Amino acid sequence: MVGKSVLILDQNTASRNFLANTFLEKQFKVTVVASGKEALIIAWRDEPDLILFDPVLSDIKVEEFIQKLRIHSRTIQTPLVALSSDPSPTCKETCLNAGVYEYLVKSAQAIPALEETLIRLFGTEKPPEVVSRDGEKSGLLIVFLSAKGGTGTSSLCANLAMNIKLAQPEARIVVADLVLPIGSIAPIVGYEGELNLATVADLPSGQTNVEYFHENLPELELWQFQLLPGSPDPQHGNILKGDRISEIVENLRSAYDFIILDIGRSLSRIGLPLIQKADLITLIVSPDQSTIKLTKTVLDYLQTQGINDQNIYVILNRAVGLEGLTKVQAEEILGLTIKTAIPYMGSNFALANNLHQPITTKYPTDTASIILKETAENMVRLARLQRVQ
Ligand SMILES: Nc1ncnc2c1ncn2[C@@H]1O[C@H](COP(=O)(O)OP(=O)(O)O)[C@@H](O)[C@H]1O
Ligand SMILES: [Mg+2]
Repeated sequence: MVGKSVLILDQNTASRNFLANTFLEKQFKVTVVASGKEALIIAWRDEPDLILFDPVLSDIKVEEFIQKLRIHSRTIQTPLVALSSDPSPTCKETCLNAGVYEYLVKSAQAIPALEETLIRLFGTEKPPEVVSRDGEKSGLLIVFLSAKGGTGTSSLCANLAMNIKLAQPEARIVVADLVLPIGSIAPIVGYEGELNLATVADLPSGQTNVEYFHENLPELELWQFQLLPGSPDPQHGNILKGDRISEIVENLRSAYDFIILDIGRSLSRIGLPLIQKADLITLIVSPDQSTIKLTKTVLDYLQTQGINDQNIYVILNRAVGLEGLTKVQAEEILGLTIKTAIPYMGSNFALANNLHQPITTKYPTDTASIILKETAENMVRLARLQRVQ
């Protein structure tokens, strides 16, 4: 969103600075003010493309503030977005009635929601089939990783991939299981055939092209994506070569709109280059102290490897039970916002896995299914947004 301008009005200094940074990173021209009256003057002087404001104002009534902007010829068309520290429905109603375009309440979800609003307003979302890089088709790369096993990485990778397909029915989606030395997505989705990462890696590189993948990778009916199953056993896994895997992933990027990789705990020489290339890095954490601390170590390492926090999508998965840290406690240790929390599903989750069924088809009305759907939609938007920048 290069070249757009935003006027940010917030009485709270920390909020103001945070929002200013958020917009600067998106290459907006940013002006910040701390009072309603000041905002009016600047808005009429500069005519920004967007006015983002916290409706909690002490120098002017919020209705009056909005109305003044709405009737003045210089701001009559300017989208007004409220990012409010007042969660009450009354404030929301007042603002929407007075003519704000969108009313968001400050929370961990506010920034992804704001990003969606920006896409709606300034329309940088690209249709899935034309995602390209250097003129060549290059699908969005989404990696799944965790600092520890058993956090639900593989199950969520498969389930979120399925939900991405639901959100993007036109898109071609592939899931590749790169967990070494042995993969686990095939048993989750119920694939029992012969083809896997090791057999594909054995083929001459010229043969594993777009047509090869489209024609040969298994498509599981309930899951609606094509799968490159992982290494079937440690013996095969241990001899797989890193450069062959990178090559396979590059070819998958020419063949699919979304390439979803399970790389498990692998920060190895194979995993790291894939993480560095990813449009979105999905980091699965469970809410226990040891996983969170280990995850913090992984995050610190990723930072030294040039990975931007903006590309990291943290999911808190209550894979082991109801106890553990709260989301806020986990966020404090990680120093990152947790974008989604998946509830503990008891034995239902394992049951769906054992029956090789997606959570979404097995338990369509469960909260987890609703969260998976929203998460997949958010991930798609964010991956695109990262690509566009
Ligand atoms: N939200 C959840 N509620 C209940 N069980 C879960 C949940 N998430 C994962 N599990 C269970 O945790 C186990 C480990 O999942 P898996 O996807 O193999 O993790 P990982 O790939 O991180 O090792 C599986 O038996 C799965 O059914
Ligand atoms: Mg796994």
